[in-house]
Amino acid sequence: MLDKPRIKPIVEDPECEKNRLAVLSEKIQNPDLSEIPKKSLNSIKELCEIEIVPHSLTLGYSYWGADHILKQILPPGVEVPSSFETIGHVAHLNICEELLPYKNVIAKVIYDKNQPRIQTIVNKVGTITNEFRVPSFEILAGKKSMETKVKQYGATFKWDYGLVYWNSRLEHEHIRLISLFKKGDVVCDMFCGIGPFSIPAAQKGCFVYSNDLNPHSIKYLKINMGINKWSSLLSHITWMHGSS
Ligand SMILES: C[S@@+](CC[C@H](N)C(=O)[O-])C[C@H]1O[C@@H](n2cnc3c(N)ncnc32)[C@H](O)[C@@H]1O
Repeated sequence: MLDKPRIKPIVEDPECEKNRLAVLSEKIQNPDLSEIPKKSLNSIKELCEIEIVPHSLTLGYSYWGADHILKQILPPGVEVPSSFETIGHVAHLNICEELLPYKNVIAKVIYDKNQPRIQTIVNKVGTITNEFRVPSFEILAGKKSMETKVKQYGATFKWDYGLVYWNSRLEHEHIRLISLFKKGDVVCDMFCGIGPFSIPAAQKGCFVYSNDLNPHSIKYLKINMGINKWSSLLSHITWMHGSS
């Protein structure tokens, strides 16, 4: 019988309410059912009367996953870009040169197929040239806001992904370094960003001096101190904005 996720292979017969339709697999092509092993077919025939009738089933856009849809839309042989980095509600794609003409449709499919988790789809444009280490992004689908939130080391971080550096792959390094700190240590976080070292270190009881050249980093460092119990962090973090 038809074996597709979320599709029932036994359905009511619109012609007669006593009958049921057993939807056959697409592998069964001959109306004489010769592809079904004789023994199995005979046992079915012993149980009930069978008749072969045409039945059409439409599996549309809402049924298929992003990968399958993109494979149908994109030229044959190209690598389908259905995986992406997720930063809170933002999906970050790195669309290769040859797929740029299809960037909007790729973003639309990925957006539709990841509701409600993903609210904004962005693509990196060019290489990072600025001193704040922030890539340029173009928003391809969804909400225009790139302000997002993630949790790391028990702390919540909020920031605008378009204005401040963030790399989710650094999580391991953040955790590794913070685990080396002890209560009472003095930590100098010279390139603090939005605080993924500073805030967990302060939560551990370290005294942290945090600096970043990007004024938006310091703005979000303070916002994140607020989100993660400002009153207890205030006595442990001294922030500055400038060049280290
Ligand atoms: C690679 S990011 C790391 C941020 C943060 N430590 C993290 O793990 O997410 C480097 C940071 O250094 C800042 N930066 C670049 N040049 C700087 C300088 N001369 N003095 C202080 N901060 C600087 C950038 O604005 C950026 O936020």
